[in-house]
Amino acid sequence: MCGIVAYVGPQDAAPVLLEGLQRLEYRGYDSAGVAVVTRSGALKVHKAKLRVAELAASLPARFKGTSGIGHTRWATHGEPNDVNAHPHTDTAERIAVVHNGVIENADELRAALAADGVEFRSQTDTEVLAHLVAQYAERGAGLEEAVRSTLRRVVGTYGIAVVDVSEPGVVVVARNGSPLVLGVGEKEMFVASDVTAFVAYTRQVVHLEDGELAVVRASGYRTFNEEARATHRTPSEVDMEVVEFDTAGHAHFLAKEIHEQPDAVERTLRGRLDRRFATAHLGGLNLGARELREVRRIKILGCGSAYYAGEIGAQLIEDLARMPASSEPASEFRYRNPVIESDTLYIAVSQSGETYDTLAAVKEVKRKGGRVLGVVNSVGSAIARECDGGVYLHAGPEVSVASTKAFTSTIVAFALLALHFGRIQDLSPAAGGRLVEALDALPGQIREILAQEERIAALAAEYASEHAKSGSMMFIGRVRGFPVAREAAQKLKEISYIHAEAYPASELKHGPLALIGPELPTVAVVPDDELFDKNLTTLGEIRTRAGRVLAVAHREIDPALAEHTVVVPKSEPVLDAVLLNIPLQLFAYHAALALGRDVDRPRNLAKSVTVE
Ligand code: AGP
Repeated sequence: MCGIVAYVGPQDAAPVLLEGLQRLEYRGYDSAGVAVVTRSGALKVHKAKLRVAELAASLPARFKGTSGIGHTRWATHGEPNDVNAHPHTDTAERIAVVHNGVIENADELRAALAADGVEFRSQTDTEVLAHLVAQYAERGAGLEEAVRSTLRRVVGTYGIAVVDVSEPGVVVVARNGSPLVLGVGEKEMFVASDVTAFVAYTRQVVHLEDGELAVVRASGYRTFNEEARATHRTPSEVDMEVVEFDTAGHAHFLAKEIHEQPDAVERTLRGRLDRRFATAHLGGLNLGARELREVRRIKILGCGSAYYAGEIGAQLIEDLARMPASSEPASEFRYRNPVIESDTLYIAVSQSGETYDTLAAVKEVKRKGGRVLGVVNSVGSAIARECDGGVYLHAGPEVSVASTKAFTSTIVAFALLALHFGRIQDLSPAAGGRLVEALDALPGQIREILAQEERIAALAAEYASEHAKSGSMMFIGRVRGFPVAREAAQKLKEISYIHAEAYPASELKHGPLALIGPELPTVAVVPDDELFDKNLTTLGEIRTRAGRVLAVAHREIDPALAEHTVVVPKSEPVLDAVLLNIPLQLFAYHAALALGRDVDRPRNLAKSVTVE
């Protein structure tokens, strides 16, 4: 959450900062702001409850400086408004700070500063940092020392960038729990919470570690650990394309990303299917067949859609490798003091590779001696670097807050993993071969589903207006269909703000059937599997109570049981989730459009959840 950028160099800082913020806006978009220090040592700040493009358009004339900091906010302390927008300054406007994270002892620090006569302008936790740095600086400390002294008093998580009018051309940055990367250019330096902000300028990067502080000048950088000892970090080259921030002719990034799925899946599969041995090759696992045979169970950790993708992954592993597997929300995992067993393999799932809760869960497993693989989209991200090995999705950058192509590619990556594990265990070459062919066919089958968009859009608009009466929608599925229903309900909630509940179809009569009536529509995931007839019985129970049903199935459902059916192509049953999920992404997108929602930037959310 929150995007940070900083720049020092010969260019005019503000356009560089604003361009970086534009690329980071997916991290938070409540408000945005920039501050620059002029060569002569004056501080200029421009911030507002605006999107980055609007902020750029409203930038005052002569907003020039060769060093500066910028921020795009996801509010934690204080409502989104102009005053709470970052950067925050001290009373004399000498120091400016941008911050990502949460200062847990902000109230205590505020009280101490207030006792010294400091008057606060904002409700944020960040403002205390600006005043504290200023206090130390006024007592004679240089910026580096003032920031270090401030951070010694802080409890919480932060990625910060600080400028001081007394030291033009210097930015001091530090991280503890929130990502921060230095970009090393030719006589210029960049800092950001994500490489995408500056990759158009340089691919030479240094990922700061927790507890590190860096002093950044146009001529270079120096890094220090918590004890103020130099850490001498050398840059490495990041393998990343420049993210093009256009929607390639689509109305939204979400539409673009839904339509990119055939290509994304092709990239996830590329070079990994082995027809000769009917298996999958995954180069980055760092886990040999012999070690794998010693694994007794698999635990998958992720948040939100990544957790649901993990549920599908667990089913794939159990089905194909006959190894016990389960998925758990990473956000809960470490708080139950989990038992880490040496024969359990942990798999962390994350599109961004930055989710705080997932990263913390990985660290907890590793601290207790466990082995963790990552299923991650963002190359070189914190989670990818923390894991012992893993599988990159190669789905391409996902900009829209709601995950679609990364979710689908995650299931495909799990199918590859399960096939690989299965072929090391007891999965026959014939069964492996069928899987290889079915995986290879997925991109074409996804294209077939996307071709039905017009009809799905019309249905979504109809069901969204139905929702206006009930305020809610039910999603049901069984076994393989259930995580699909959970993800579909989440997608609808996230972008359309329609309340949606997901239930195993078998559980309906144990309680939620009481809700069913003409005003609560149900979306039913009904694959053509061994539970097909049982699913039809449930649909009958809903229809008897006058509930409307939209089915996503492999064949037309009797209109007496489902008023509408969206038919998807068949695959190997273990891969059902991949294809059944696609029309439901389109359904959520078009329901949100019909209700006039901001589909790419839904309220209260951010793409990377880097706070607890
Ligand atoms: C997905 O649509 C959501 N925006 C959200 O649940 C997301 O999947 C979750 O926050 C985890 O993100 P990650 O994959 O980047 O770790």
